[in-house]
Amino acid sequence: MPDVLDLATRREEPANISENSDLDPRCQSPAANPSTLFDRCWRQYAICREHFFTDHTHQIASALSPMLTGSRQRFLVEAGCGPGFYSRRLAARFPQLQITGIDLSEPLLHCARERARRSGLQNCRFLRGDALSLAGFPHQIDAVIASRLLLILPEPALALDAIFTALRPGGLCFIAEPTSTWSAAVPLLLMKMTQRLSRTSSSAGPIPRSRVLNTPDFESLVETRPWRSIRIWKDRQYHCAVCKKAA
Ligand SMILES: C[S@@+](CC[C@H](N)C(=O)[O-])C[C@H]1O[C@@H](n2cnc3c(N)ncnc32)[C@H](O)[C@@H]1O
Repeated sequence: MPDVLDLATRREEPANISENSDLDPRCQSPAANPSTLFDRCWRQYAICREHFFTDHTHQIASALSPMLTGSRQRFLVEAGCGPGFYSRRLAARFPQLQITGIDLSEPLLHCARERARRSGLQNCRFLRGDALSLAGFPHQIDAVIASRLLLILPEPALALDAIFTALRPGGLCFIAEPTSTWSAAVPLLLMKMTQRLSRTSSSAGPIPRSRVLNTPDFESLVETRPWRSIRIWKDRQYHCAVCKKAA
């Protein structure tokens, strides 16, 4: 099966989802931006993710459960996976799921791989790839998770379009986005402060721009694609959505 999760066995790997890939041309190339704040402060981000952010594993698992009946293997992608928080939790919970986390930050991917290895997980892997490049894998993925991703992308609608394209008929997408500028900015500010205090301050770069969406804007963004069904709710400091593609 020419699947996005079949990359290891493919002779010609698609350009954008591989361990050493070039990035999608719509994003800055690694050469132009060799180190982002996520690269430099990956430890701080991983700590925030693990200990301070809301955990939506339960809601994601509930949304996934109906599709996990039957014997067919299912493929899930966590787009902008960072330290692979959800990929690892879901891999442990659902051994029948094959999970790929993709991200642009090699240090965060390394962290995700190490944690998965230490937990003995065999059904998840982490690859360098741009969320936009998912558009190159039409109808191949059963489920996509996008947590705290859309707010940091310059054109979130493009990423959503790529996710929609990559989903199989009947596939679903779980989205979680902070509702408050404050809660979105705090981890980035913490990362930035730590970086300032560290010896790498000379390489200090700008804080990634993030755009927190209000409820109407979040709904409008989600509705840019022709989902068969959309369920949107607020959970503490997050807008959440489960979107299902027509079968
Ligand atoms: C705020 S973090 C979210 C990480 C994780 N999803 C979570 O829930 O904590 C955003 C992540 O997206 C990654 N990222 C930024 N732009 C991306 C893109 N175009 N494609 C894939 N990942 C991207 C960053 O490297 C970072 O790890």
